[in-house]
Amino acid sequence: MYCVRKVTKDVFWVGANDHRLHLFENIHPIPLGVSYNAYLLLDEKTVLFDTVDWSVCRQFLENVEHVLGGRDLDYMVINHMEPDHCASMEEIVLRYPNVKIISTEKSFMLMRQFGFKIDNQELIEVKEGDTTTFGKHTVAYVEAPMVHWPEAMVTLDLTDGILFSADAFGSFIALDGKLFADEVNFDRDWLDEARRYYTNIVGKYGPHVQHLLGKAAKVLDKIKVICPLHGPVWRDDFPYLLDKYQRWSTYTPEEKGVLIAYSSMYGNTEAAAQNLASKLCEKGVTNIRVCDVSSTHVSELISQTFKLSHLVLASVTYNLGIYPVMLDFLEHMKALHVQKRTIALIENGSWAVKSGDLMQEFIDNNLADMTILNERLSLASAMHDDKAVELEHLADALVESINNTDVK
Ligand code: FEO
Repeated sequence: MYCVRKVTKDVFWVGANDHRLHLFENIHPIPLGVSYNAYLLLDEKTVLFDTVDWSVCRQFLENVEHVLGGRDLDYMVINHMEPDHCASMEEIVLRYPNVKIISTEKSFMLMRQFGFKIDNQELIEVKEGDTTTFGKHTVAYVEAPMVHWPEAMVTLDLTDGILFSADAFGSFIALDGKLFADEVNFDRDWLDEARRYYTNIVGKYGPHVQHLLGKAAKVLDKIKVICPLHGPVWRDDFPYLLDKYQRWSTYTPEEKGVLIAYSSMYGNTEAAAQNLASKLCEKGVTNIRVCDVSSTHVSELISQTFKLSHLVLASVTYNLGIYPVMLDFLEHMKALHVQKRTIALIENGSWAVKSGDLMQEFIDNNLADMTILNERLSLASAMHDDKAVELEHLADALVESINNTDVK
């Protein structure tokens, strides 16, 4: 049975929700699911904007058939050919063999590379600024390279101000009936997962997102609805959404606060992390998140690192190196170009305390615009009373730095 929602009088959401997938991109847990959004425009011509992941293809096809109501499908616009959106295009071609496919040159190249059979169709290659008129509706194509793949574009419906934004402004979490951001409590229920989606999927490409935001700013007055490929559709509160994207894409923290990420084999480094958290609270800094890197997925660590102004890395020394799971967190930070944070270090070791120097070296060599506080807590196996002064100094340095951080 079809399951669709009306977006505007001419545009329908024909996507579907996925609660079965455990790991998005086979990396990131999605305990609350995800939606794959596709949209269908009914005009003199019928136009499908993107398709869906193979896993929800059956639902999607029923949706398309229902909204078409017996009409043929004339066009399929592919804004982003990554298979979580493009995988069902061959099924569309099989059912609607007259469909013309509109996309970018790189996108067609990647479709062939993935083995999608498109070459019996009429292919319309578009580039920045090209337009197509489908009847009442005229759309303009805007290139959006690296948001999140090189072939990506977004499409602006100039008639009704609908921005088909591809991965931009997307989020984890299945829609489950709700379609619009104003139908959910986004700040309370969705923001954390939207951040985890952005920072881990698109986080590396901040300058490219900035470039797209610059283009969007020039036509902001024309945009009435934002239709991303995951998560809710936006039809108001654009300043809220744009503020988040502005921060995330410039690696600017959302809040003054600290993520204390620790690795601990026998609970001693953990005890130091907890002790530091208590000291910070005593001194008035309560926006603290304490995470065991061994039991917190790295996508959540990355998300919290983007959110907060400060980071404490507390690592045991393991085989004379950084604890492997902590090293993995650092490698993810490097891969995603995490930058502009203030970091404090806690190290531990029983016969050779190496992790502090090694973490400092990693940060100095691989992460841009990081400030490492001079105060470091260094432990030999366990936290003892003689470390109280060092702990106090570390807490004081963090509190001073957090209080002096300019986060609006
Ligand atoms: Fe949701 Fe980059 O694909």
